[in-house]
Amino acid sequence: MRMCHPPALLGTSWLLLAGLLLALQQAAGDLRRKATAVGSSVLLAGLGNVTHIYSVQWEHLNGTSSHTILHYNKGSQDPAIHVPYTGRAIFHPSNGSLLLEDVQESDSGIYKVTVNMGERESLRILLEVLKPVSHPRIWSSLLVAQATGEVFCEVAEGRVDTITWKKDGQPLPPDRGFHLSGSLSVLSLRSAKKWDCGSYSCNASNEVSWQETSLNVTIAGLSPPLQNALRMAVVAVVFAAVSGWGLIFPVCQSEKLRIRGELWRWLSVYTCGLVCIASILAGTAGILWMREEGPSVAIILPEIALTYVIVVTFLVSATVTFQPTKLMQLKSKTAQRTMGYAAPGGVVSVVLTTSFLIKNIHQRHGERRYSRDHPKEEGCTELVDVTTLALSIAAVSALPLLAIFLCYLSSRRSHDSGMAEGT
Ligand SMILES: *[C@@H]1O[C@H](CO)[C@@H](O)[C@H](O)[C@H]1NC(C)=O
Ligand SMILES: *[C@@H]1O[C@H](CO)[C@@H](O)[C@H](O)[C@H]1NC(C)=O
Ligand SMILES: *[C@@H]1O[C@H](CO)[C@@H](O)[C@H](O)[C@H]1NC(C)=O
Ligand SMILES: *[C@@H]1O[C@H](CO)[C@@H](O)[C@H](O)[C@H]1NC(C)=O
Ligand SMILES: *[C@@H]1O[C@H](CO)[C@@H](O)[C@H](O)[C@H]1NC(C)=O
Repeated sequence: MRMCHPPALLGTSWLLLAGLLLALQQAAGDLRRKATAVGSSVLLAGLGNVTHIYSVQWEHLNGTSSHTILHYNKGSQDPAIHVPYTGRAIFHPSNGSLLLEDVQESDSGIYKVTVNMGERESLRILLEVLKPVSHPRIWSSLLVAQATGEVFCEVAEGRVDTITWKKDGQPLPPDRGFHLSGSLSVLSLRSAKKWDCGSYSCNASNEVSWQETSLNVTIAGLSPPLQNALRMAVVAVVFAAVSGWGLIFPVCQSEKLRIRGELWRWLSVYTCGLVCIASILAGTAGILWMREEGPSVAIILPEIALTYVIVVTFLVSATVTFQPTKLMQLKSKTAQRTMGYAAPGGVVSVVLTTSFLIKNIHQRHGERRYSRDHPKEEGCTELVDVTTLALSIAAVSALPLLAIFLCYLSSRRSHDSGMAEGT
């Protein structure tokens, strides 16, 4: 009963543990470690300081059983080498050493040499046969400024003892938050910043080999949704500008020469359609921005206006395309005014919304790159190349407008010549 008393039980276990440790220490006293690579040759040295060797016995201790490799007696001929080692073990009678060739992982274990049959003159060698580590694979998660990202290093083959990291050739302090789980090491970049960009290398090693791989790490200043929002905003503002020209063009003409008929129809369809698409893009860009940065009144109000513009411009361009007569019959002043203001209003809304977005996204990317107040907010990639995008979109979207204008010019010329002929 007393034995079950917790302190007594604790004392007994401590005693047992201490005894076990002592036994282990004694057993390990004459144990030498040696590591070698698969396929190599390893020299297991005998006892160096025995002056007169009469007999030598080499054994491989496998668990509790032991397997004799050879038994040498001075005076008799060269010893017979036992089965698994025949042909790949060489014994040196002069000093009792054993050379094992082409070792495999199954050769790992404890080798025991006994000289002159004395237990005192024996030595145990723990041999570890290791596969060399394979080239590590190194990759990173999506790295965006201010967010937490990781760089991974994984070794497919070979027992890995350590993985060390270097950045731009300089060793990283071991407390940089990386941990080894099996053959995988993770370097975490908390709140990634410009300083974190660079060349990372990981060096995986075990006792017999090492391999190093490196990766150029870049940190994007903008997350992919914000990059998309920026592209959409740029395309939207280009569309708005082009449709703005389409709206101004008829207004700048005198009443008499104003574009009419089919050409007017196509011009209206095209400008209204373009305003509609620009509003959809600007609206989507605003939603993407809010999903990343949280809701903001500066976006929500234009979103409402844009939704209204999308509906009206869509209806107008659909009606003008498919039922142009319906539009002519529409006499209601309110309806006419709604349609008359929807497209210009849409252009203005798109320009205002996208200016706000583009300005904020630029700031987010790090216009403050050179400011010391916000060194965290920067990545090390260039901002999305929007100039090429804007120019190509402008060129493509202005083409139909140009075609309508050219048609108008040629029709005017034929009209003029017709008038001249008439007089
Ligand atoms: C034992 O002798 C062999 C051959 O003479 C030699 O190659 C080897 O290095 C020696 N071993 C030691 C531990 O001296
Ligand atoms: C050399 O001999 C001494 C005494 O015989 C022994 O204590 C020691 O362990 C031996 N050294 C080696 C390397 O075997
Ligand atoms: C060691 O023991 C294991 C299992 O008992 C056996 O499969 C293996 O072949 C042994 N190795 C040697 C070298 O005797
Ligand atoms: C990799 O690590 C191993 C073991 O720590 C070391 O010997 C080796 O020099 C390292 N390689 C490089 C390129 O630093
Ligand atoms: C990393 O970038 C440098 C220079 O920019 C280049 O020389 C090197 O080859 C790159 N390394 C990798 C692994 O891509």
